[in-house]
Amino acid sequence: MQKLLKNRTCEDSNLWQQGHDVQGHDVVHDSEINVRFLSPADIPSLLELEQKKWTDDQRADVSTLASRIAEFPALSVGAFCTRTGTALASLFMKPTRHELMRQCPTWADCARKQHGDESARTGTLFGISLSSVDPKAANAIFEFFWPYALKHGWSDVYLGSPVPGLRGWLSKNPDISVAQYVRSKRQGLPLDPQLRYYFKKGFRKIVAIRDNYFPHEPSLDVGVLILGKVPLSGLSFIWKRVPLPWLQRMKKLFFLCL
Ligand SMILES: CC(C)(COP(=O)(O)OP(=O)(O)OC[C@H]1O[C@@H](n2cnc3c(N)ncnc32)[C@H](O)[C@@H]1OP(=O)(O)O)[C@@H](O)C(=O)NCCC(=O)NCCS
Repeated sequence: MQKLLKNRTCEDSNLWQQGHDVQGHDVVHDSEINVRFLSPADIPSLLELEQKKWTDDQRADVSTLASRIAEFPALSVGAFCTRTGTALASLFMKPTRHELMRQCPTWADCARKQHGDESARTGTLFGISLSSVDPKAANAIFEFFWPYALKHGWSDVYLGSPVPGLRGWLSKNPDISVAQYVRSKRQGLPLDPQLRYYFKKGFRKIVAIRDNYFPHEPSLDVGVLILGKVPLSGLSFIWKRVPLPWLQRMKKLFFLCL
């Protein structure tokens, strides 16, 4: 048994050194993740990421990615593997206003560029899209962005989350309403896996439940508009005066403040 374990450990450590896990998937170490604002040159890698994470009717094409980056380059962030250049995660946002978020019925309405978006004096963002193949990369994106958000005065972020557990749950519990499912918790955390994911990232307020929000079969096209606070943004009058590198040094603190 010990021999078996020893062989297994050696095998795993060889795979680790080669940058692969036991299933042969690429393993990316923390030190190999580079997060930065996106440029048009990143579009081919971003398309590969879209291909991995979204279906045909959901994914962004070249022109959509190009316009997101062109419109709000300081709100378009990507995490890349420094060894392979592969895009591991991306986050696209845009400025918005609370009243607009409450009025827009679908993801397309929320994501659409509105007249005056660039000049709007608002502390509110809408997360157009988050894609990730590696949880470390998704975390690194948030760590990277929070200092910029504090410096700029962004304090609120809306997201429209799918609820991928909905279809399965309703098929087993036909008497339960969509709203009951969305608000259901187990051990203090949302029942739905994706709402749980965002809850852990600080997106805890359910603002609205929208039918026909976004094509997503397991969610029966339902989207849940959720709101998160940028960590520590209650002290924004201080952060605007603090140099960015100081805020960047605080990055590990942000997750503790969620
Ligand atoms: C949602 C997403 C960005 C999370 O990426 P990540 O940080 O790399 O994390 P993972 O994909 O490993 O998911 C982390 C956890 O959340 C859960 N989760 C998140 N999204 C989920 C989904 N759509 N269905 C089921 N579980 C989901 C996972 O089960 C996992 O739980 P575990 O930690 O218990 O295993 C990524 O799964 C993705 O790109 N999904 C497709 C696109 C999407 O839905 N984007 C968000 C739209 S608002």
